[in-house]
Amino acid sequence: MDCQAPSLDFAIIGHQENWQHITALINDIRTPRLEKLPVEKIKSIFSFIPPRDVFKINAKSKTGAEANGVYIETFIDPDMLDAQYIRTNISKVMNAVAFAKKLGAKVVTMGGFTSILLEGNFDSFSPGPSKFTTGNTLTAAFIVKGVEKAITQYGINLQESNILIVGATGDIGMACTNYFKGKTKKMLLCARNKNRLQKFALELIKDNILVNYSIVLDELIPEADIIICVASSTNIQMANCKKNVLICDAGYPKNLETTIDNPAAVHLFHGGMGQVLNGYSINPDYSKSMYHYEAPYISHGCALEAIVLALENKFETYSTGRGNITNDKMEEIYDLSLKHGITVAPFYNTKGLW
Ligand SMILES: NC(=O)c1ccc[n+]([C@@H]2O[C@H](COP(=O)([O-])OP(=O)(O)OC[C@H]3O[C@@H](n4cnc5c(N)ncnc54)[C@H](OP(=O)(O)O)[C@@H]3O)[C@@H](O)[C@H]2O)c1
Repeated sequence: MDCQAPSLDFAIIGHQENWQHITALINDIRTPRLEKLPVEKIKSIFSFIPPRDVFKINAKSKTGAEANGVYIETFIDPDMLDAQYIRTNISKVMNAVAFAKKLGAKVVTMGGFTSILLEGNFDSFSPGPSKFTTGNTLTAAFIVKGVEKAITQYGINLQESNILIVGATGDIGMACTNYFKGKTKKMLLCARNKNRLQKFALELIKDNILVNYSIVLDELIPEADIIICVASSTNIQMANCKKNVLICDAGYPKNLETTIDNPAAVHLFHGGMGQVLNGYSINPDYSKSMYHYEAPYISHGCALEAIVLALENKFETYSTGRGNITNDKMEEIYDLSLKHGITVAPFYNTKGLW
């Protein structure tokens, strides 16, 4: 038996996005009696640490329900997210998966790059009571609902706008494209693999959707009024954007502000994020050494998907691999999320709240 009876509502498997967070977190986890480790020392040991549950999470619904879970750190090196390290990273994720099963988590979400590494291929896991989800359906729902809210705020007319999806052939990118197709003037689609991009674009063109697609992002940016960036690369360069273009940075890590040529001329927010209105607590409280958010109780859509499913007692493989997110599923998980008081996060970027 490699699994024990479920005892935890949910688990979130994740990884840290930079060494600043990692250094603070590792020094927080070590007992206060021990001297603080410098970043270079931490870099030399970090990727050898096996997965572990770092803190407990308790989330509260506006219905009065509560869900209890844990955050499991994979200890994936943030400088080793490229394809060349895929074997090492997959093995780290699989160790974290085995650990989540051992803890008996009823639903387990795969945060950040961990779901991309496995491409939602949960069928290969040995059967057991724990159900796995990529968390991408609620992430996609928070992105599209966030963009709709932002365009209302800025008085942008969607029907007269060109919307650019960077990472259009990905799981979340396809979901966003399918949500906005037919509602905009033109869809602009970008990804690196030309065949896959062309196949997807031609399907839309067959449905009489006006589409322009390219593997060269620079060719599409000047036409875009709204940009959703959900690529699985960390170094997307953005130049020659229209003035006041609305940008939803929904990738992980969210670092477009460092690669955009004129950040002051655009309206950029960190998308795919939600806020738990009735709050959540984490124990021990390492929140200060992990992510800093501009408002309380914010978290990533992928993490919140597990919390919503747990609050709903819906322990199932909700989001599977690429291309399975439908508009109906996005609406369903978004409605469940609202039922529990979990909404699109207030708009913010590295400069603070809008
Ligand atoms: N905010 C949140 O809560 C949250 C939650 C989950 C995931 N995410 C993030 O969302 C992003 C997408 O996730 P996913 O599951 O949809 O990934 P995915 O299925 O692997 O799709 C990634 C997409 O990005 C494209 N891409 C990669 N590098 C690119 C580049 N340099 N230029 C243009 N396109 C590029 C890929 O196509 P090609 O390979 O053909 O280029 C593909 O279309 C990731 O960064 C992930 O970490 C955020």
